[in-house]
Amino acid sequence: MRSKTVCLIGGSGFVGRHVASLLCSQGLSVRIPTRRRELVKSDLIVLPTAEVIEANIGDPQVLSESIAGCDAVINLTGILHETTKGDFQRVHSDLPRKIVDVCRANEIRRLIHVSALKAGHDAPSEYLRSKAAGEQQIRAAEASMVQTTIFRPSVIFGRDDRFLNLFAKLADVAPVIPLACPDARFQPIFVEDVARAIVDNLDETQSYSKTFELCGPKQYRLRELVAYVCAIRGLRRHIIPLSTRLSYLQASILERLPGKLMTPDNLRSMQVDNVCEGAFAAKFGFEPRALETIVPGYLAKHSVDQREDSFRLRA
Ligand SMILES: NC(=O)c1ccc[n+]([C@@H]2O[C@H](COP(=O)([O-])OP(=O)(O)OC[C@H]3O[C@@H](n4cnc5c(N)ncnc54)[C@H](OP(=O)(O)O)[C@@H]3O)[C@@H](O)[C@H]2O)c1
Repeated sequence: MRSKTVCLIGGSGFVGRHVASLLCSQGLSVRIPTRRRELVKSDLIVLPTAEVIEANIGDPQVLSESIAGCDAVINLTGILHETTKGDFQRVHSDLPRKIVDVCRANEIRRLIHVSALKAGHDAPSEYLRSKAAGEQQIRAAEASMVQTTIFRPSVIFGRDDRFLNLFAKLADVAPVIPLACPDARFQPIFVEDVARAIVDNLDETQSYSKTFELCGPKQYRLRELVAYVCAIRGLRRHIIPLSTRLSYLQASILERLPGKLMTPDNLRSMQVDNVCEGAFAAKFGFEPRALETIVPGYLAKHSVDQREDSFRLRA
């Protein structure tokens, strides 16, 4: 059966907006529950077949009402740090369990879940361990005829990313960048490639019960990525690689500041190389795009995106 209506849980976020747009472009109806409809609706309102609903999906009854009548559910909820103790468990593990329960109860037969590369029960960070617990909850759905697919992306880049944009903002104001975990390795993937992999596999029976890693074509150390961002911004910045001890000291200070730019748990995630084992194209039939072909389009000082942003600010 081809899916016609898809519930995108976490669809208001960075990846979700791209998945929603791709699904709508293929004529599918998309329902997006969010706790902050007023804030996100302007980004999603232009999508002709998307419906954004205000919903606290932590409540199983509300979650059930949100997905009722859909043919498939895609779960994109995730957090990078906890606001209150236990948030990782609630968002990454308890919520997937509730999603599985309501899929069963509503006889929804297709569930796609986005986890994280290197999620594991023995992983060094709570983030990665809770992501592994969530995958386990999702897999349990298969016992009751819900077909599942799990995607595990490395760090994702794109116009609204919170990774390269963060370093760009930092480089704009700081002549010196003290960099934690400078040798951490990543294999960044473009957000539109992530969205395509998810949407292409929505009705693909070959993807049932599978877990796919999602990486771009090239691996980088964190210090290389930051140097690249500075170069793209046309800025000469001094990057100071921090030792492990100083990295954790910096993270424990940043954790206490508003916005929590970095936490010790984030650093523990970076102890594991965030890179893929196998080839991407063989699995999906398209080549993931190189960072160097995309990032200048939104981070370079004179890019159209940057010009539009400055016009928006002035307006
Ligand atoms: N971005 C990356 O580099 C990256 C890398 C690896 C894995 N991932 C995974 O990919 C998925 C999508 O990431 P993203 O970057 O698009 O995330 P995002 O922009 O932060 O969006 C996360 C979404 O999760 C929802 N959410 C967060 N906390 C929630 C809670 N307590 N209850 C209900 N909903 C909650 C938010 O919905 P509301 O509208 O209700 O706030 C939001 O739509 C996540 O699972 C993330 O862990 C992302």
